[in-house]
Amino acid sequence: MKNIVILISGGGSNMAAIVRAAQRGEWAHRHDAQVAAVVSNRPDAGGLAFAREQGIAAEVVDHKQFEGREPFEAQLVAAIDRHQPWLVALAGFMRILTPGFVGRYQGRLLNIHPSLLPAFPGLHTHRRAIEAGCRFAGATVHQVTAELDHGPILEQAVVPVLPGDTEAALAARVLTQEHRIYPRAIEALLRGGL
Ligand code: GAR
Repeated sequence: MKNIVILISGGGSNMAAIVRAAQRGEWAHRHDAQVAAVVSNRPDAGGLAFAREQGIAAEVVDHKQFEGREPFEAQLVAAIDRHQPWLVALAGFMRILTPGFVGRYQGRLLNIHPSLLPAFPGLHTHRRAIEAGCRFAGATVHQVTAELDHGPILEQAVVPVLPGDTEAALAARVLTQEHRIYPRAIEALLRGGL
């Protein structure tokens, strides 16, 4: 069985989109794959309740309980590896990961970022796109490398920036597309191999 472990920090709508696609697309039968676990670094992450409702193991590794990145990541690795992951998917996971963590899952660690990378790595992507006068914005699914928001691009989606757009309006338009491209990127890996 190809186990997918999803890391979240918040609402978890991308995680939910992946879970729903897995259910809809019968990944279990066709690809021998399942979302095995959801791990959050925040105890109040909204996505945890959804995961539990779906019968998926949902665990919290609260970064605030640890002194520094290494002990936090050691616990995170333990929570992930318990499920023998084929793939680890960051879905709105808002902690910076050390090169050691990234190296451990190299080639099977994905992220979704709310911009058309390599434009606008980092935070506040929608505000920066509006301020820069971009006519288009979007989202990127990419392999994670040690450098933040870099790494080989697997999928992208483009949306227009409309006159008078607020940050929230643009974020919502982009998020709808994120829900389409993240499951699609994972399905492509399931079909074609890592
Ligand atoms: C998404 O827009 C995702 O691209 C972004 O956070 C949001 C999470 O939403 N990720 C990053 O900014 C990573 N640096 P979700 O919790 O509803 O999936």
